[in-house]
Amino acid sequence: MTAVAIVGAGPAGFYAAEALKLADQTLEVHLYDRYPMPFGLTRFGIAPDHQRLKAPAQLFQRTGAMPGVRFFGGVEIGRDVSLDGLRSTYPAVLLAHGAQADERLMLNGATAAEVRTAREMVAWYNGVPDVPADDFNLQRPHVVIIGNGNVAIDIARVLCRPVSELAATDISDRALLELRKSQVRQVHLIGRRGPVQARFTTRELRELGELPGVAVRVEPQYLELGAACQTELDHHSGEQARRNMDLMRDWVVRQSHLDSQRELHLHFGLVPEAMERDAYGHGQLLLRRMRLVGEPFAQRSEPTDERIRLRCDLLISSIGFRVASIPGLDLSCTPGLPHAEGRVLDTQGLPIPGLYVAGWAKRGPSGVLGTNRACAQDTVQSMLADRSHWPLPESGALKRLLDRLFASDTPPVAWEDWLHLDHLETEIGRADGRPRIKFDDMRKLHEVLRAYRSSKASAAPSE
Ligand SMILES: Cc1cc2nc3c(=O)[nH]c(=O)nc-3n(C[C@H](O)[C@H](O)[C@H](O)COP(=O)(O)OP(=O)(O)OC[C@H]3O[C@@H](n4cnc5c(N)ncnc54)[C@H](O)[C@@H]3O)c2cc1C
Ligand SMILES: NC(=O)c1ccc[n+]([C@@H]2O[C@H](COP(=O)([O-])OP(=O)(O)OC[C@H]3O[C@@H](n4cnc5c(N)ncnc54)[C@H](OP(=O)(O)O)[C@@H]3O)[C@@H](O)[C@H]2O)c1
Repeated sequence: MTAVAIVGAGPAGFYAAEALKLADQTLEVHLYDRYPMPFGLTRFGIAPDHQRLKAPAQLFQRTGAMPGVRFFGGVEIGRDVSLDGLRSTYPAVLLAHGAQADERLMLNGATAAEVRTAREMVAWYNGVPDVPADDFNLQRPHVVIIGNGNVAIDIARVLCRPVSELAATDISDRALLELRKSQVRQVHLIGRRGPVQARFTTRELRELGELPGVAVRVEPQYLELGAACQTELDHHSGEQARRNMDLMRDWVVRQSHLDSQRELHLHFGLVPEAMERDAYGHGQLLLRRMRLVGEPFAQRSEPTDERIRLRCDLLISSIGFRVASIPGLDLSCTPGLPHAEGRVLDTQGLPIPGLYVAGWAKRGPSGVLGTNRACAQDTVQSMLADRSHWPLPESGALKRLLDRLFASDTPPVAWEDWLHLDHLETEIGRADGRPRIKFDDMRKLHEVLRAYRSSKASAAPSE
């Protein structure tokens, strides 16, 4: 039997596992994940009010149940097992560990208001285990979100959506509790370039205008385009931007006078410079107005002399993610790991034998779930083509590694354990009219698993 290891049980890891098994049923595929639960950002990224977008998890569930696919949840490569250790255990290792770090916003005087990242907020509302229950305080009216991508929109929507609607989703209970007390009234979404360059998709943008009790405000001057922006908009590649512009123009006309519980303001061409305090000690964000200069599709953003101030109690920076290196892997990760057709390259540009990459770790943090399927399949093709050259693992290393992991106080979460957790989460959720209620407390999770394992052990026939 030959076993290969995949680091990261997110979409890229599962799509790769599926492709490996479909190509060769005799291969064992071992999926390692730092979290006890599988599926990566399908579970911990996609917004709770977008349940149907999590549908690929059903496919991953089937892949996880395939004979010869094993899941080792709660095992972090680089912490619990070194990358070198893994590479000497398996002939081939595929890195599918996503982009787990933040792009950092540079801001002076940030202490005048709370400054957090999108990753932190998403982890909190999506139930990543062990994030403190009170990680976010929403009992303040003014929130500013920096960034014009779909993650920024997700966060704005979760902050503005009526809590009665969120209560029917799988949002974490800790977030639901805080959102019930929410005093958030004004949410500002800030883009550094113009509306034509915004990265959000029209479906996500449109949903903002459909939120009950929320008025979306766009100042008409933001939608006045210079000649270069108009050329970009008119170009055949500008379809999404045209639809976005139509939507925003419609909001300017229709929605500006609506009474509302919350206001969601879209701003463009602004870059945050500093956080200040006003005379009452409230946080105030100072932003510099930018202008776009240059030819269509090569416009640069230049600062003007104009600045504006916005009240800000909580600032969330949603300006993208970075691929984090794994200890022992001394390579640049921008945008993803250096590779040739999924073969990881060393600093000389040569393939590292038996080391591969897929998903966001390969391409950088862009693309939807489905994008990772073709990406993972391409890498698997390279893996299989190299098979006769895979390095030989150390004899007995796999048994030694698994013996060590399973001897720990918190042994890896196996697929069967996950099925048990999944069953409990959905059963408890169903009783409450929700798709599931996530376990987000590590201590409780391990208690449940211990009870399950010991009930299984006592039910097993004695030899
Ligand atoms: C907030 C957010 C919302 C999104 N919403 C949508 C959406 O609605 N629809 C859509 O189609 N796409 C969405 N996306 C994009 C989609 O989630 C990604 O395309 C996809 O998850 C990338 O897959 P991946 O497997 O490369 O990375 P990930 O999903 O991040 O999976 C990586 C896995 O590796 C594990 N890992 C990391 N480091 C280690 C380590 N050292 N050892 C062991 N395991 C490790 C992680 O725990 C994780 O499970 C969203 C992304 C974000 C950030
Ligand atoms: N529903 C969905 O399908 C869904 C939901 C969430 C996420 N996703 C996908 O997941 C991926 C990641 O999404 P994302 O929103 O994190 O990333 P993104 O789409 O790359 O957007 C990042 C935003 O941050 C801005 N930005 C970057 N650096 C900045 C800085 N220093 N200062 C100010 N602004 C800065 C970018 O502006 P510039 O354009 O000027 O660089 C851009 O507006 C995307 O592919 C997205 O489509 C999909």
